[in-house]
Amino acid sequence: MVDGWWALARSEEVTSAKPINVDLAGQPIVLWRDRGGVARALEDRCPHRRAPLSLGCVLGNGMIQCGYHGWTFDGATGHLKDIPNLKSDTKFPALYRANAFAVAESGGFLRVCLDAKAAPPAPASETLPLSGTVNVALDHEHYIAALFDDPSLVLAMRGVRFTPYLMAELAEREGRLVLERSCQWAGPRWPSPFSSDFPITLRISTDPVTGECDLLLRDDAFNPLLSATLAPVPAARGVTQVRWRAKLATRRPGLMAKWLGAGTPLTVLPAIDGAALRVLKPSASIHAAALREAMTTATPQAGAA
Ligand code: FES
Repeated sequence: MVDGWWALARSEEVTSAKPINVDLAGQPIVLWRDRGGVARALEDRCPHRRAPLSLGCVLGNGMIQCGYHGWTFDGATGHLKDIPNLKSDTKFPALYRANAFAVAESGGFLRVCLDAKAAPPAPASETLPLSGTVNVALDHEHYIAALFDDPSLVLAMRGVRFTPYLMAELAEREGRLVLERSCQWAGPRWPSPFSSDFPITLRISTDPVTGECDLLLRDDAFNPLLSATLAPVPAARGVTQVRWRAKLATRRPGLMAKWLGAGTPLTVLPAIDGAALRVLKPSASIHAAALREAMTTATPQAGAA
């Protein structure tokens, strides 16, 4: 389940000032930037007495120092480099190495793979400027199923109403799970006499391994209105940590499309309506499990993103 490259932080969340802690399916990970600004990821447990390295600090040389007894580790390899009060030329046994994980940064996300030798993922073409992080008390699998079956349970787009109707069923396309949902402009006069039945659509393209989704809202002439990336990650205790980035299209034709333009148009909901979720009938998600199984066993996972 934890193969693949997972977006464990937005680029701006990770600095060389202070390490941060994240989780991937119960695996604690510490992230920081070294002196060159390169992001590093180690297991967030000191090999000495198991203290979280994220409670320590980043030294001037870019290495991380445990806050308990001061052991110091190199971020690229996890090798122990220093113990206070020992001679500087002391060689330390490999036993005291911290587990190092592979890190790749692009598109404003910092992605981590637990396989340190994994081939890096394809870089993103752009960094979407709007961003945020929410923690949702729902497990990763059910979070993605809710997004497929009724996006309004997990996100909101200002002025947009998601309908129950699909323009295209969930299907595999070029290694992604893709579906297209019909939407309408919302508002006090919905359905508007000035709009066609389905003037806008939401395309959701999902990585079958991680569930990271690219969202694209388009009008009836297929002009893009809003693009976003949603990166749900299974964190600890059944919580899904969702990082997102979004961008409004510069040109949004149509009077109603202007509704999207006032402030941040996308809200990724921090809580899910349990009553609505309980009665939600599986629709698009029905095919997802079988498709994901077929796709992830047919292709190597390590390089997928
Ligand atoms: S627990 Fe980290 S140095 Fe002792």
